[in-house]
Amino acid sequence: MSQNKNILEIKNLSKSYGNFKAVDDVSFNIASGEIFALLGPNGAGKTSIISCISGVSKFAEGSISVAGSDVISSVKDAKFNIGVVPQELINHGFFNVRQILEFYSGFYAIAKNKDRINFLLDRLGLWEHREKRVRKLSGGMKRRVLIAKALLHKPKLLLLDEPTAGIDIELRKQLWSFVKELKSEGMSILLTTHYLEEAEQLSDRLGILHHGKLKYLTDSNSLISRLGKKIICIELSEPIKSEHPLLIKSDGKKLHFNLPMDYSLGLLFKENNIETKDVVDIQMEKSNLESVVEGFLQSKTTGGV
Ligand SMILES: Nc1ncnc2c1ncn2[C@@H]1O[C@H](COP(=O)(O)OP(=O)(O)OP(=O)(O)O)[C@@H](O)[C@H]1O
Ligand SMILES: [Mg+2]
Repeated sequence: MSQNKNILEIKNLSKSYGNFKAVDDVSFNIASGEIFALLGPNGAGKTSIISCISGVSKFAEGSISVAGSDVISSVKDAKFNIGVVPQELINHGFFNVRQILEFYSGFYAIAKNKDRINFLLDRLGLWEHREKRVRKLSGGMKRRVLIAKALLHKPKLLLLDEPTAGIDIELRKQLWSFVKELKSEGMSILLTTHYLEEAEQLSDRLGILHHGKLKYLTDSNSLISRLGKKIICIELSEPIKSEHPLLIKSDGKKLHFNLPMDYSLGLLFKENNIETKDVVDIQMEKSNLESVVEGFLQSKTTGGV
């Protein structure tokens, strides 16, 4: 398989609940071995998209294919290539961790899956909990069981719907390194998250969803460089008076400017008649993805999808 082959292709997907359109004409692809993060506020439609891909929800408009199989007309083939980690924790009654993983291996008709189960138990830190009933595990442990369950059949596409919600920072970092390992093995991953650090750390590309519409589709670095701002604080030996339009704060000697990422310091000095010999110190603060996404959603700009 070529490295660039799309594992997921979503074309003009719309999904309504009654008269309410939760997903509105969304299109994007995920290539083999790529991690794509879907960001957006509560109710934006992230889980609805995941449900349409995994076959949990029906949709009337658009098409979705996974590894070349249409999720409606070739549902069985598509399902064998998908692993889903749902947003909601599921209660697995009286079964223990190993039994659950054996049961679902049977579901995928993988009769002897012992090596894979042992690998996942070990890799997800579940080994010492393998004989415990799932319902007695903590939330973080239950989340790990869901991830193991989604990976039993080595899917080509993993759907992670807020995989680290309610998980402590240590486990979150462990999961991030595991997700990177899955990517290095060629797995494609669709991740929804509210943790912007997570999207920044893991994703190759990201999309921002707002009221069901995909507003922006890019890689995280270019989002920051295109929409991001830098705050620059220039400290001078002698006070000056500036009326520069991008000046946000000044006591004469310390001047704070809010600048577009590509604004040059040389130009800023020239426009304010600042001589380099008078500059005592310069400090810069880059905006993070969180402020960029917030700023983007508040702005009227629509991105180039
Ligand atoms: N089964 C349903 N019936 C009716 N409306 C629904 C249903 N599921 C979701 N919705 C609505 O569709 C919209 C999108 O919901 P969805 O769960 O996809 O959002 P989300 O982006 O995953 O949000 P969150 O970040 O809170 O998980 C919301 O307005 C929600 O209330
Ligand atoms: Mg959701």
